[in-house]
Amino acid sequence: MATDTAQRPAFPAGGNVYLPHIAVIEKVIDETPAVKTFHFNFKDEKLRQEFTFESGQFAEYSVFGVGEAPFCISSSPTRKDHLEFAMQRVGKVTTALHRLGVGAEIGFRGPYGNCFPLDVLQGKNLVFVGGGIGLAPLRSLIWNVVDNRDSYGKIDIVYGARTPADLCFQYDLDAWAKDGSIGMVTTIDREHPDWSGTVGLVPKVLEEVGPSPDNAVAIVCGPPIMIRFTFPALAKLGFTPEQMITTLEKRMKCGIGKCGRCNIGNLYVCRDGPVFSYAQIKDFISSEH
Ligand code: FES
Repeated sequence: MATDTAQRPAFPAGGNVYLPHIAVIEKVIDETPAVKTFHFNFKDEKLRQEFTFESGQFAEYSVFGVGEAPFCISSSPTRKDHLEFAMQRVGKVTTALHRLGVGAEIGFRGPYGNCFPLDVLQGKNLVFVGGGIGLAPLRSLIWNVVDNRDSYGKIDIVYGARTPADLCFQYDLDAWAKDGSIGMVTTIDREHPDWSGTVGLVPKVLEEVGPSPDNAVAIVCGPPIMIRFTFPALAKLGFTPEQMITTLEKRMKCGIGKCGRCNIGNLYVCRDGPVFSYAQIKDFISSEH
């Protein structure tokens, strides 16, 4: 499911796949103390007009003189005013990115990888299961679906984080909760004085919500521990491995299938993914996650 990337242009700068395009940061949103979202646009007007991508694809983002790191494009291709990516501060490149403000220039290579299989998802009921920053790739698809609402069935979203302060994209959560056509449950792991909503780990809350597997596909992204327990929870509800999709962003470097760093079993996350059905990766995921 969803592994063909051959038809999607990667927009190499100057014909060189390793040369980044210059992009300018237009807005920075503090999602949590450790996660920021960046809105950006290409400096080159022609590229700005011609650039296309699909929900689920990723790019390599660079801070000049520091290095580059892969993150999904977290905005929806249905919203063309700007592009977005979000990331947690965890190392050298992400710390340097977090220091950047509006007007700063970054490097951008991509888009790379496959995408969520819209052709498979159309007409289906969709169950989105996310945790923490894992909502970043899901929100690209969720907005894509919302912007083409008539092409899809029921939408359920179960999203959680450790504490209220760790919930990302609060503005999206509010918008989806208000959208009468979406079943939205936001949960935090444990009781918290600032929280009066649902409490419980995402896989457990998912089981309580109990979405039907009939004509449905579940799309899952979050921390490894959440993913590990979410697949069995979905299986208990009757979802088959083919009805479960996830996206992995592990350990990518070159982004184009050259460095051999991102393998999971015999698959390359950058080239064969990052979107996989659980059926494709279930034999490898217990050792990886
Ligand atoms: S990141 Fe280099 S081969 Fe996948």
